[in-house]
Amino acid sequence: AIYFNLIREDRYMLFVNGLKVSIQLTVFAAIIGVIIGLLMAIAKLTNNKILNRIATVYTDVIRGTPSVVQLIVIYYAILGSSQLPKLLVASLAFGINSGAYVTELIRAGIQAVDKGQMEAARSLGLSYSQAMRYVIVPQAIKNILPALVSEFIVLLKETAVAGYIALDDLTRAGTIVRGRTFDPYTPFILVALIYLYITSMLTAFMGRLERRLRQSD
Ligand code: ARG
Repeated sequence: AIYFNLIREDRYMLFVNGLKVSIQLTVFAAIIGVIIGLLMAIAKLTNNKILNRIATVYTDVIRGTPSVVQLIVIYYAILGSSQLPKLLVASLAFGINSGAYVTELIRAGIQAVDKGQMEAARSLGLSYSQAMRYVIVPQAIKNILPALVSEFIVLLKETAVAGYIALDDLTRAGTIVRGRTFDPYTPFILVALIYLYITSMLTAFMGRLERRLRQSD
């Protein structure tokens, strides 16, 4: 009977549409996060004091407060004054959140490249920016790419709080169906399995990527 409850057309569609929202949210936020992360990582690595400061305040504030709280604040701050679709506002909020983690991951990835690499490149006559471009960054990418996939996994799971601004994501489909059936287990176990399915694909991709990047060592 419970199984029948879940596959009833309207409930089935709640999960399907919810999954669509969760994926869209993750993809948009990932794009925004990577763009912000790139810019902020550069800001952190330059010698410009003001840019350093801005990037540090940004990462400290975002990583020091819960993403749900950021989502709610950004939702009211932006939606209060505009007619932007909720999905876009949430994408922005999660993008801004993810950007802080991406900043640190890029910064760490670049700083993890041995200092001797820069020294060797410079002593071969490369300028600082040439050394960055041809020696440091290519090696840093090996550290960064797998960590970035892991960030996308975290991001997908993090979007589960989108229901706080009444966005009908996958988790909220579980909440709605629980309310209609008075059964919490079946809908949420289904929700968990759907997340697990997607994250395990990303995990497998990350593993293949890591092996591929190691080959050139
Ligand atoms: N759930 C935690 C928070 O509320 C961690 C967020 C981690 N997010 C990320 N994109 N790595 O802040």
